Amino acid sequence: MIKEIFDFLWRKKRSNQTPEAQELLKVIDKQKLPRHIAIIMDGNGRWAQRRGMPRASGHRAGIESLRDVIKLCCELNIDFLTVYAFSTENWKRPQDEVNILMGLLVEYINKEINELHQNGVRINPIGRLEELPRLALDALIKAVELTRDNKKLVLNVALNYGGRTEIIDAIRAIAANVEAGSLKAGQIDDRMVSEHLYTANQPDPDLLIRPSADFRISNFLLWQLAYTEFWFTSTLWPDFRRIHLLQALIDFQKRERRFGGLIVR
Ligand code: FPP
Repeated sequence: MIKEIFDFLWRKKRSNQTPEAQELLKVIDKQKLPRHIAIIMDGNGRWAQRRGMPRASGHRAGIESLRDVIKLCCELNIDFLTVYAFSTENWKRPQDEVNILMGLLVEYINKEINELHQNGVRINPIGRLEELPRLALDALIKAVELTRDNKKLVLNVALNYGGRTEIIDAIRAIAANVEAGSLKAGQIDDRMVSEHLYTANQPDPDLLIRPSADFRISNFLLWQLAYTEFWFTSTLWPDFRRIHLLQALIDFQKRERRFGGLIVR
């Protein structure tokens, strides 16, 4: 019994269920939610620096934010969440930081995988995964296998991911078919390109969130973001909680999405 009470209180604390967040949750129109949310988890380094802590503690604190966001996405029946965890450019960081990030990924999977699985989350890493360190790759393969039939939420984790390399990989695969004679160049269209991306068979993100007051897309989902709504906040990723996601959703629900057309009234 004591363990159950402790568990309940701990989960409540972790999910940051503030009264303000509860109020916002009431205003959300459940019929007008995005199917796919993408997030650039930025600002971990600055968060740590401001506290005089090593950058690694910022990355570790960022995991807490990720937990909170995944939980809310599950509660709201969001179908797809894509998070930018490690870009093709992040290898340029000091080797120590790269090692810490890879270590955190393995630790995160080992610690959280059972809970994610129980909550119906399907782990879907995207990027040039074969170039990841063996330990990270092995942990990912296990997570993918375990969660492959889950239906609640697809969690795309972008790792060694670059929007340009993704497009290059798609072009190479399509060009191979042209070379083999099974496809004519004129048959290549929008849909075919989408089907050769790492996010094949998924809807494009409806909403992109970038914390930390940087206003760029940093080589993230370059093709898929064509008609995505962007939402920026100065909150650093480790401070990002369900309240911020709720604010983004409320803002998203006020947008008029025209996809290049006109709204006929
Ligand atoms: C960018 O912040 C963040 C990253 C490069 C890593 C994101 C990783 C996590 C949130 C934790 C690990 C994730 C998983 C899935 C285990 P930055 O370091 O560029 O911050 P800065 O711009 O303030 O320096």
